[in-house]
Amino acid sequence: MEVAVRQSAQPAEIIRQHVLAFLQSEAQFSLGSLELPSDNPLATYVEIMEVTQLGTTRNGATLVSFWQADLKVHVFTLSDVPPEADVIEAPDGDGGEDMSPCSQFILPRRDFQGLWGSLVLEPGCKERLVDFASSSLHFAAAGVQPHVISSNRMVLLHGPPGTGKTTLCKALAQKLAVRLSHVYEGAVLVEIHSHSLFSKWFSESGKLVARLFEHIQELVDDESCMVCLLIDEVESLTSARSSAASGSEPSDAVRVVNAILTQLDRLKRFPNVLTLCTTNLASSIDAAFVDRADIKAFIGLPPTAGCYTILRDCMEELMRVGLVAPPLEIAPVRRDLHVLLFAAFCARALAQCNDTLSIIWLVRYRALILMR
Ligand SMILES: Nc1ncnc2c1ncn2[C@@H]1O[C@H](COP(=O)(O)OP(=O)(O)OP(=O)(O)O)[C@@H](O)[C@H]1O
Ligand SMILES: [Mg+2]
Repeated sequence: MEVAVRQSAQPAEIIRQHVLAFLQSEAQFSLGSLELPSDNPLATYVEIMEVTQLGTTRNGATLVSFWQADLKVHVFTLSDVPPEADVIEAPDGDGGEDMSPCSQFILPRRDFQGLWGSLVLEPGCKERLVDFASSSLHFAAAGVQPHVISSNRMVLLHGPPGTGKTTLCKALAQKLAVRLSHVYEGAVLVEIHSHSLFSKWFSESGKLVARLFEHIQELVDDESCMVCLLIDEVESLTSARSSAASGSEPSDAVRVVNAILTQLDRLKRFPNVLTLCTTNLASSIDAAFVDRADIKAFIGLPPTAGCYTILRDCMEELMRVGLVAPPLEIAPVRRDLHVLLFAAFCARALAQCNDTLSIIWLVRYRALILMR
């Protein structure tokens, strides 16, 4: 279970004890948020208290008894610090734009809080990923010898565009920051801007890569901080190496890619580093790179029930901000919302979901069509 507390709250251990006492008084709980009575001393400190995962329950029960549960309570504070971009100025007199090799996000952060729950994937997919990643970080932190149980702590997500790969990486990093808050005092996500590393001035590319990894090294040197590296659209890096073999890529680009891969390999030695990569084109990635990934997860189109949930969440959000008012009252809306495309997608999902709610949502979906 996850408990987000306000800054300057009591020490985590004391909060944990209070949470356990509260759960004991409740006797039973299920997945989802828990409301604290206003007279509970925890109410002053706690922002969010949520049961986020139920392991195996008896007969698949959704209600768990305090006495039968093997509880894991994670206490943490959400960060509001805006993401920081590392910026390198363009060479003088060239009129070029400044370059930024990476952005940095302090974890766990408030704006990532709903991401995990919002992603609807094949059942068990998210849990397998988070379990694998947290185990491999645990193993490394405990000093498990890599030649006995080898792990590069690298996850590669591949699949068609727009299926939630980048979002899942961010959500996974947030989840790990929460789950490992008793191992690492701090956590940070470094998003590497792969494209911007290939500057049109190749001498600058070398500088950018050096600057990027110097910065990452500073973070990694703090053993109390977990560092997640996100390399989005990793094919833009690794395909350069393969095209070099066919002679179509300038050798400077290849040098840059090799420098990055060497640096990534070097970071493997540090137990507090996890690398998350995404791609649309797993088949065109350099084999040497794919082999480095411990988990290669295919993230495909969401299941039908997932489409339905996504649609429902979208509609609820549109209603929350007043762009669509239930059931058929229509607020003025921008024409470029691609309503028909959205509606066709929704109709397919709804037609295949045989529950009464579908009828209600179909009525609301008609409202969207009418907005054209
Ligand atoms: N399975 C899903 N469940 C809920 N939302 C989803 C899902 N897939 C995509 N989305 C939403 O679609 C948007 C795009 O997702 P995202 O950018 O993470 O996809 P991507 O796979 O990284 O795409 P690309 O391959 O084009 O980079 C996000 O707002 C995300 O929340
Ligand atoms: Mg993406």
